[in-house]
Amino acid sequence: MSFEDSGSFDRMWADLADVGRDPAGGGYRRFAWTRTDALLREWFHAEAQKRDLEVVPDRAGNLWAWTADPDVHGPGLVVGSHLDSVPDGGAFDGPLGIVSAFAALDVLDRSALSRPVGIACFADEEGARFGVACAGSRLLTGVLDPDRARSLTDDDGTTMAEALNAAGLDATALGRDDETLRRVDTFLELHVEQGRALVDDGSAVGVASSIWPHGRWRLDLRGRADHAGTTRLADRDDPMLALAAAIQQARSAAGRHGALATVGKVRVRPNGVNAIPSEVTAWLDARGSLEEGVRAVVADVGQAAGATPVEESWTPSTVFDPVLRDRLAALLAAPVLPTGAGHDAGILAAAGIPSAMLFVRNPTGVSHSPAEHAEPSDCLAGVSALARAIEALA
Ligand code: GLV
Ligand code: MN
Ligand code: MN
Repeated sequence: MSFEDSGSFDRMWADLADVGRDPAGGGYRRFAWTRTDALLREWFHAEAQKRDLEVVPDRAGNLWAWTADPDVHGPGLVVGSHLDSVPDGGAFDGPLGIVSAFAALDVLDRSALSRPVGIACFADEEGARFGVACAGSRLLTGVLDPDRARSLTDDDGTTMAEALNAAGLDATALGRDDETLRRVDTFLELHVEQGRALVDDGSAVGVASSIWPHGRWRLDLRGRADHAGTTRLADRDDPMLALAAAIQQARSAAGRHGALATVGKVRVRPNGVNAIPSEVTAWLDARGSLEEGVRAVVADVGQAAGATPVEESWTPSTVFDPVLRDRLAALLAAPVLPTGAGHDAGILAAAGIPSAMLFVRNPTGVSHSPAEHAEPSDCLAGVSALARAIEALA
């Protein structure tokens, strides 16, 4: 089978190009359970309908578009990814996997498939609005407690339960969804690479070996609001100083412990130029190849900040199914590489579903930024690889 027709990929890519894009900065703001998210989900439904796929939502609002009923024909191979983004994200992280999945199906002879194939659209993968990454797949697999999920709030104080209900879902239905999980025999997620390993290797497509352990922690730093012009230095209780120490420590501790650490989100109250803050909340993202290194960074940062980091999410080291990985690497003659990025495929793998990932070369190596990129020819190489994988596995 060969893939030559880029028409369906190009049309879908063009359809999505303006959805949720900030016209000024060019980045995407596609947050879970917003109007933009609803447009993306409508687009998913429409693409599924064009291909005669039946869309079945699960209890967490993830969407599953099936070629045939897995309850009748047995569990199937699922491909797919997510459509939401980080603040000012790139076009590829998530959508590349879903657009490629539809495009791959378009070039396959569906009558030759021996079992159902599903295309999944996971909800709230980035956790940009409510703070917990891979919220949809964590709810599906039961690793995110539904009561906790319902009570998570966004920056405006809206709870996830309120957001789900406003989007027409039933927030009381959240919880591990065994009926959906039983339908998934194997999961395969295609994703833009978020580094430059494939550039260095000279390959358009790679296969994932593992995901580093990673997590998010909140630092609640308290002080006393006061006047910037009249309060003597000795009399100040300024939580911004604790934040500065925490950020410096995140960088140096990451270096010492062979890990990565980032403070990318900060909330300051009352956030006035001429007021000493009363309260600073900061979020630490820490990752590394070894859990001990990550934990050591978090402990050092907490000590420097004088506050105990509150764990908001944690994903242990995830090794993808070795048989599947080796089979795909041989089939596609593709290199195998680890990643420090989290993915729904990692959550499903941890839940015991044989899972794998394909990465598509990103010439900038940049991700979670509008500079994220994949050349059209590499996107089509990704579609072709995905189609060959589906053909081999389904
Ligand atoms: C998801 O993209 C993550 O790794 O934060
Ligand atoms: Mn991402
Ligand atoms: Mn992603």
